[in-house]
Amino acid sequence: MKVLIVGGGGREHAIAWKVSKSPKVTKLYAAPGNAGISEVAECVDISVMDFERLVTFAKEKEIDLVIVGPDDPLVAGAADAFSEVGFRVFGPAKNAAIIEGSKAFSKDLMKKYNIPSAAYETFDDPKKALEYLETAKMPIVLKADGLALGKGVLICNTLEDAKNGVKTLMLDKQFGKAGDRIVIEEFMTGREVSVLCFCDGTDIKPMTSAQDHKRAKDGDKGLNTGGMGTFSPSPFYTDEINEFCMEKIYKPTMAAMKQEGRDFKGVLFVGLMLTEDGPKVLEYNARFGDPEAQVVIPRLKNDIIDVMEACIDGKLKDVDLQFEDNAAVCVVLASDGYPEHYEKGFLIKGLDNFKDKDGYYVFHAGTKLTDEGVVTNGGRVLGVTAKGDDLFKARANAYEAVNWIDFDNKYMRHDIGKAIDEQ
Ligand code: AMP
Ligand code: GLY
Repeated sequence: MKVLIVGGGGREHAIAWKVSKSPKVTKLYAAPGNAGISEVAECVDISVMDFERLVTFAKEKEIDLVIVGPDDPLVAGAADAFSEVGFRVFGPAKNAAIIEGSKAFSKDLMKKYNIPSAAYETFDDPKKALEYLETAKMPIVLKADGLALGKGVLICNTLEDAKNGVKTLMLDKQFGKAGDRIVIEEFMTGREVSVLCFCDGTDIKPMTSAQDHKRAKDGDKGLNTGGMGTFSPSPFYTDEINEFCMEKIYKPTMAAMKQEGRDFKGVLFVGLMLTEDGPKVLEYNARFGDPEAQVVIPRLKNDIIDVMEACIDGKLKDVDLQFEDNAAVCVVLASDGYPEHYEKGFLIKGLDNFKDKDGYYVFHAGTKLTDEGVVTNGGRVLGVTAKGDDLFKARANAYEAVNWIDFDNKYMRHDIGKAIDEQ
């Protein structure tokens, strides 16, 4: 089977690594891929948003299965572009990816189908948003409706912050059109958990849980980022909570999307807040999380191709999804200055230390292969993942392995998995 992966970040490297292990796969391509992915796949320099060239390439190479990794192409209809001309695609159609593409859509869906989430109001008019804030309880959360690289969410402690937030999103348009409409949402407290679920349009199967660290600096300080590190499983996501989420969140979400004529096939990422009143949905994403994928996929026992094909064919209920009874921790090595300004182009040393080391992985996010070797080429550069018998061992292993890598301006958080000490 010939497979094409669309994307070129750490998530796609984790997917590509796992796909390359499948005995069914004879040839693997990635567009555009990256230096790490090129070790397991042939990379072709086509942008994830250039659907025309991607489809032409897939026809030329007679691709049997296309896997679309990132949110931008999914929300813009990448899965449709392939399926309309007869390709088998893993990833939701545009009309289902809207669950991530529009926060207002997902909030309305949850309200209509009684899926637990924070109370909210939606605004197209900045004047009305400002008026509403005058009587609202602080802290409060402002969210740009559209995609904003995970950065369009503002947590505001005071009325003044909130008013400035409305200005940033709706008037200064810091996130462009994504901020034409905003959701203003009740602030929730509790532990956050990410649960990625395989979906076939009807059935939904949660994978093992994970927790991300979204802020740039130790102690959850600094700006929001795409994610600075993850651990899996979350010790706070108990079987009982999983059972609750299955009945009150996962199954109802699948049924709601079906009812709306938007069958969801692919990975549904459910961001949860475990509040005092029970688990509530923070957000939905229409894809694997990054870096969540980097701790979840290495623990998946199944052949990922079997699971993806079952999702496409509506046969997920026949799949016995299994994860290893261990733990994994991923520490992101970033360029100093991320998520704002940073330099790139620095030589990365030590990648070979991961060769043939069982249970240790270096997933490439922002790297480039040059004549001198692999160099830094983005804000998030590498995801160093290690497994261990339990979370403590996995964390110790990951923080040992980050020392095997060296590059100028290397930056990381030192407290990934801190919550493990609080269980
Ligand atoms: P989102 O992209 O919607 O997941 O938001 C990014 C981050 O903002 C989440 O991971 C939470 O840490 C935080 N957040 C979002 N919505 C809320 C909320 N209603 N209450 C508290 N924190 C929130
Ligand atoms: N790590 C969060 C995300 O992928 O959106």
